[in-house]
Amino acid sequence: MHILSPALDKQHPDPLYVQLYEHIKRDIMNGTLHTGIRLPSIRNLAHHLHISRNTVETAYQQLLAEGYIVSKPKSGMYVNELDLDIIQQKTPPSPSLHETSCSNPSPDLIDFEYGSVDMSAFPMNLWKKYSNQAYKQEMKELTSYGHHKGEYLLRKEIAAYLYQARGVDCSPEQIIITSGTQHSLNLLCETVFKNYDHFAIENPGYDRARYVFENHGFRVTPISLDKDGLSIKHLRTSRANIVYVTPSHQYPQGMVMPFNRRLELLQWAEETNGYIIEDDYDGEFRYEGKPIPALKELDQHEAIIYLGTFSKMLLPSLRISYIVLPQRLVQTHDALFEAYISTVPRVIQYTLYFFMKDGEWDRHVRRMRLLYQKKHRLLVDSLIGYFGENVEIIGDKAGLHLLIKMDTLLTEKELIEKAEKFGVHVYSIDKYRLFPETEEKPLLLLGFSQIPIAQIEEGIKRLKEAWFD
Ligand SMILES: Cc1ncc(COP(=O)(O)O)c(C=O)c1O
Repeated sequence: MHILSPALDKQHPDPLYVQLYEHIKRDIMNGTLHTGIRLPSIRNLAHHLHISRNTVETAYQQLLAEGYIVSKPKSGMYVNELDLDIIQQKTPPSPSLHETSCSNPSPDLIDFEYGSVDMSAFPMNLWKKYSNQAYKQEMKELTSYGHHKGEYLLRKEIAAYLYQARGVDCSPEQIIITSGTQHSLNLLCETVFKNYDHFAIENPGYDRARYVFENHGFRVTPISLDKDGLSIKHLRTSRANIVYVTPSHQYPQGMVMPFNRRLELLQWAEETNGYIIEDDYDGEFRYEGKPIPALKELDQHEAIIYLGTFSKMLLPSLRISYIVLPQRLVQTHDALFEAYISTVPRVIQYTLYFFMKDGEWDRHVRRMRLLYQKKHRLLVDSLIGYFGENVEIIGDKAGLHLLIKMDTLLTEKELIEKAEKFGVHVYSIDKYRLFPETEEKPLLLLGFSQIPIAQIEEGIKRLKEAWFD
């Protein structure tokens, strides 16, 4: 067993568990802690470092979730076997399913819709203040088109945020501000991918990404998933050149891709000279430990095109998202893109820039995480409380939705119809599947971002009455 002695600093802005997690991760990556080494028990390490067991446990949970360590029953935690040759050590930087408008919901209807956000948590007054500031102070800028990749100042703020929050190290030159994820994909298909023809996507996966590839006339191959996400074996046999993935929280199945699978995916890209489109649509929301860094953090060979969005944290109606290109694609993209004009209103870009520059974005992210964490906890507790062993909850470690697999003889369609009769909307994941359903038990999707907290338990209670009473 290896004794760990990190210098933990209580005054440091990062909590102790993050410092401990970073220390162990660094030791694993640089080989100090090699495969098979047993980590000290939670109790011993807590005692040795004079910190709480909770702190050690949270750090271990984060390492487990990211696949750096494995837990052996009745034995302890061990450093996992990692193929570190694929990457070099890098200093770790410290759709609506349902197109209804929320404007007029029946007071009786409880809607577990996915895609919308909690409007009551949107900082409207601040947004108006910064919007006024944008109109007042930047009038000169507002009379012209602006940079085709988006406002430089905003791209600088995004780059700084991505570095500290998602582990993505990029310059503003690599960023292009877009009007949504489909717009990002469209642009890529028209520029850097215009000479490519074969895309792989997750199955089930985000249907709106698939439509873009199909509408460009590209061949699209669905790749099956296992418990760790995209099957690399299947990806290899597909012979696709580009793969679109959601590794931080697979949409819609919700698994977080572990470290080893991430390495395999990067290896695929390196060996085939392929590209990975990483859609990090809700990676900021994680409910155990701290958010798992983006796959892009490990991108040593510049194979990843990273996509981000402000739709989950702010409002989907703002239509503001972005692409981070690998450095090696910037020139190709810029040459083809030079004649384009940005489609995102400058006033919105400046409003967001002021919001971020003044630190309001960071405060807002913290508030939203807490709010969604509360909703998530309540939803999970209600599901377990009302359904007990009749429900399996899937993909609930992150994001703004989860899946439930019900132990019942009813079909998905019957469950949805019965729920409707009790005034509750729950959703099928059929439209995300490219093959017909193979699940032995019905699966349903429940979003929890827009639903008022006071309706969550009542909604699940009604589902119990609808399905089991
Ligand atoms: C998988 C996935 N990617 C991206 C988005 C966000 O898209 P946009 O940036 O167009 O709002 C969503 C929205 O629900 C999504 O589910």
